[in-house]
Amino acid sequence: MSEERAFNFSAGPAVMPLPVLKKIQEELLCLPGCGASILEISHRSKQFGEILARTKQNVKDLLGVPDNYQIMFLQGGALTHFAMLPMNLLRSTGKSGNYLVTGNWSKKSASEAKTQGKVDVVWDGKAEGYVRKPTDDEIKLTDDALYCYFCANETIEGIQYPREPKVDVPLICDASSEIFSRPVDIEKYGVLFACAQKNAGPAGVVLVIMRDDFVEMSGDDLPSMFSYKKLAEKDSMLNTPPTFGIYSMALVTDWLKEQGGLEAMAALNREKASLLYDAIDGSNGFYRVHGQKEYRSVMNVSFRTPSEELDKEFQEEAKKVGLTNLNGHRSVKGERASIYNAMPREGVVALRDFMVDFAQKKG
Ligand SMILES: Cc1ncc(COP(=O)(O)O)c(C=O)c1O
Repeated sequence: MSEERAFNFSAGPAVMPLPVLKKIQEELLCLPGCGASILEISHRSKQFGEILARTKQNVKDLLGVPDNYQIMFLQGGALTHFAMLPMNLLRSTGKSGNYLVTGNWSKKSASEAKTQGKVDVVWDGKAEGYVRKPTDDEIKLTDDALYCYFCANETIEGIQYPREPKVDVPLICDASSEIFSRPVDIEKYGVLFACAQKNAGPAGVVLVIMRDDFVEMSGDDLPSMFSYKKLAEKDSMLNTPPTFGIYSMALVTDWLKEQGGLEAMAALNREKASLLYDAIDGSNGFYRVHGQKEYRSVMNVSFRTPSEELDKEFQEEAKKVGLTNLNGHRSVKGERASIYNAMPREGVVALRDFMVDFAQKKG
């Protein structure tokens, strides 16, 4: 492969905004006013304190986070929080975590949660092959539900909630593959969390937004690094936080503000996704999408050609013209184009043109 940047459709870690990468490159040896790199300064330094405060403020502004929520930058990837959330919330309250299982990630989360407390899977899309989300009428919560857990966008299957489920308990949302891609109404949430490496920065930092009463539920018997209460009390600095990840998230969120915020991102994301879905729908059945139409993901377009041989050829040919990492997840197969915020419209247009051409030649 050449030295030039390709259009990278990886599901994660994924493409970052080019201006952000350039800024990191520019500041890597010497952060202005610091005489050292972000990689070399103390997390207790004034400069890092300012970066942490800026990142928090950006998250607050972009998502409209109310004052009674804590914004934390934690570690362990999203997977750690699959277990840590019920560890903090279910053990101490004895209540049930109600889970909507709509694909690989929510399934994994429910199974991790079961190691920590009472879990009720109140809807499971497995029998249908994880092709849709439940309708509000299908969600029947248990009487002892503390929260209703859902995965906003199933990265692997490419299915997404058009809007959050309507329930009468607080929501917990794994927003890993859609954070900052559209506005959300945080007040409906007890917790919203996301690993950074898809839409918010590099791997190594997890954004956790948690309502104060949920933070207070952490049992006193928990080890400190596993207690949201203790982590929140120390402003994510109980130990050394992922400083580079937080710095990068500051730059990504600065960039998002410059782009016009989440309404503007949402409009662009919808337009980018329609370019691909329109090409698929116009291919006379050559391409097929994994999920049902009203649940198609705006972030991860999961589709396939008529055969596994053609899938292979599609990915090889695409790579030759600089369209990379289009392979689907091993459990779904076919192709997956992840078109997060940082994927430029030109990249999506290039892929759309390639798809149309490939279908014409092979169909
Ligand atoms: C929706 C979703 N949740 C959780 C994860 C797992 O994140 P991590 O690898 O940071 O644990 C991923 C992706 O890898 C994901 O797409």
